[in-house]
Amino acid sequence: MKVAVFLSATFAGASAFVSQSSPKLGTSLNLKQDFLEYIPYYDHSNVKVNTWKNKAPFTGKVVSTKRIVGPKATGETCHIIIDHKGDFPYIEGQSWGVIPPGVREKDGKPHAVRLYSIASSRYGDDMTGATGSLCVRRATYWCPELKADDPAKKGVCSNFLCDSTPGTEIAMTGPAGKVMLMPEQDPNTDYIMVATGTGIAPFRGFVRRLFFEDTPAANAYKGEAWLFLGVANSDALLYDDEFQDAKSRFPKNFRLDYALSREQENKSGGKMYIQDKVEEYADEIFAKLEGGAHMYFCGLKGMMPGIQDMLAGVCKSKGIDYEEWIKGLKEKKQWHVEVY
Ligand SMILES: Cc1cc2nc3c(=O)[nH]c(=O)nc-3n(C[C@H](O)[C@H](O)[C@H](O)COP(=O)(O)OP(=O)(O)OC[C@H]3O[C@@H](n4cnc5c(N)ncnc54)[C@H](O)[C@@H]3O)c2cc1C
Ligand SMILES: *[C@@H]1O[C@H](CO)[C@@H](O)[C@H](O)[C@H]1NC(C)=O
Repeated sequence: MKVAVFLSATFAGASAFVSQSSPKLGTSLNLKQDFLEYIPYYDHSNVKVNTWKNKAPFTGKVVSTKRIVGPKATGETCHIIIDHKGDFPYIEGQSWGVIPPGVREKDGKPHAVRLYSIASSRYGDDMTGATGSLCVRRATYWCPELKADDPAKKGVCSNFLCDSTPGTEIAMTGPAGKVMLMPEQDPNTDYIMVATGTGIAPFRGFVRRLFFEDTPAANAYKGEAWLFLGVANSDALLYDDEFQDAKSRFPKNFRLDYALSREQENKSGGKMYIQDKVEEYADEIFAKLEGGAHMYFCGLKGMMPGIQDMLAGVCKSKGIDYEEWIKGLKEKKQWHVEVY
């Protein structure tokens, strides 16, 4: 079905953004997802950042909050859907800021903003263009003396978000960031996405955009999107059902590899960390990068040293100068890192 589209003023200043007036939840489920596309769809020159600022944040409303890991997962991770009424456009790979309510204990000032990668595509999980989703891990503080979690030191914003219920108001800023966008211009582009834990968030948005929606981007896509996810065990996997679905429906265009550090062993019998899983395919990955693939990394900062050491080792074995190699990929904008 073809949907009437028109240039909209909803996206302040983004005159190339095609939009419908923001539909109410659930009203456009059968529509083609073409109402939040730039013209042409891969033109990112009008991608907005910081539409909503710290001093005048947007107030979003929680639609639902759901624990999405199994009982044996290390820690708790929640999927939170937030209604933005269509007033907070973003695209895949961007983040939202959240200002937790209340004030800091130390000086009575408002809490600082925390960033969260958006885990949905621009259309939101319900395809209305009026919601966005976050994938948040509840930050806890393990007290070595108490040998237990110390509730006084738990993370402010992640606990606020994971404890939110339908209707909870969320002060939001952004959208933030452009380093994690998908280039989209060449539909044959290969994507190599490497995530640990909640670092999966932007890649869930990518996968939904590439494979689950009826967009010009999805219809054009002919490349291979390859997702690596590292978590502790199978209960800690995130969005596995969706990724399995993409894999069975698009076996030629979507690949999926998991590194389960507490369940799998690497070649030397050690724990299977993300860099060990990526290393298994080093030849293929190097060839893909040589051919113009884009590589993305997202997750905790601590993932990068292991990745870098592994890549440096692979370069050495191939007689490649690692520093030059990385520099070349960065210059060609094939290298995308967002770690925290
Ligand atoms: C670009 C970007 C994207 C991000 N995306 C995501 C995402 O998709 N999902 C996600 O879950 N996170 C993401 N983050 C991280 C997120 O922004 C927050 O840093 C995280 O949720 C912790 O914030 P908090 O307010 O819960 O913890 P804070 O209150 O800021 O505390 C930070 C840590 O310190 C500990 N702590 C508190 N008090 C003490 C004390 N007295 N002594 C010792 N330790 C203490 C807390 O337990 C916590 O682990 C992202 C960060 C960035 C920069
Ligand atoms: C496997 O794990 C061991 C022990 O942690 C580590 O020394 C090694 O670098 C890892 N990777 C490979 C490919 O063996």
